[in-house]
Amino acid sequence: MKTEGGNDDAKRRAGEAAAAAVEDGMIVGLGTGSTAAHAIRAIGRAVDSGLDVRGVPTSFAARELAREHAIPLVPVADTEQIDLAIDGADQIVPATGACIKGGGAAHAREKIVAAAADRLSIVVDPSKTADVLDRSVPIEVLPAARTTVAAAVAALDGEATLRRAAHKDGPVVTDNGNLVLDCSFGPIDDPAALATELASLPGVLEHGLFVGLTDVIYVGTATGVDRIEIDR
Ligand code: 5RP
Repeated sequence: MKTEGGNDDAKRRAGEAAAAAVEDGMIVGLGTGSTAAHAIRAIGRAVDSGLDVRGVPTSFAARELAREHAIPLVPVADTEQIDLAIDGADQIVPATGACIKGGGAAHAREKIVAAAADRLSIVVDPSKTADVLDRSVPIEVLPAARTTVAAAVAALDGEATLRRAAHKDGPVVTDNGNLVLDCSFGPIDDPAALATELASLPGVLEHGLFVGLTDVIYVGTATGVDRIEIDR
């Protein structure tokens, strides 16, 4: 689920700092959410000033925003390699770069783009950082698998809640036509092990644990940006 609050100026600083690393000729993954949106807007301004890039949107929302800003786009299905992806996170451990994504239910395409990218920059405000991941993990499931996956999550000592839509009766339906289970496990001491367990469940399209993918974290603060390089 989405993180409540967060400071928009800090998000903007993080997004703009990550966007400043985009260079001429790059193919750039465009993330989803309010922090990644600042990066998309900054790239749009740079394109307006002559920067030659192509963007790979991670969601309907990212595509809409990028088009609004006249960023030339390539669909992820037509992209083999991405130079740099910039995306937000719902929670991140600065020491390892492990994070939870999927607050916007876009984590399946976000992970395809992140994994295809030479470098992944995660942009956050300080409310997203934690020593241990303990937020609920979004899991995108085929509609037919929602009950069996929820039972499997319970067997892993987790609790699955079907994500409900805010402005529609019934559940959130992802850009891929699937459902989302928000699964709380308490503190996640070994994200890599849980990621492997979740990925092995039949009917799971993708889970929101991103492990071993982050290269750089930009944490926007009240006065500037902390840039953290991850050795992976
Ligand atoms: C969408 C995501 C977003 O990146 C995540 O929810 C963070 O969004 P925001 O910057 O609005 O807090 O994973 O699926």
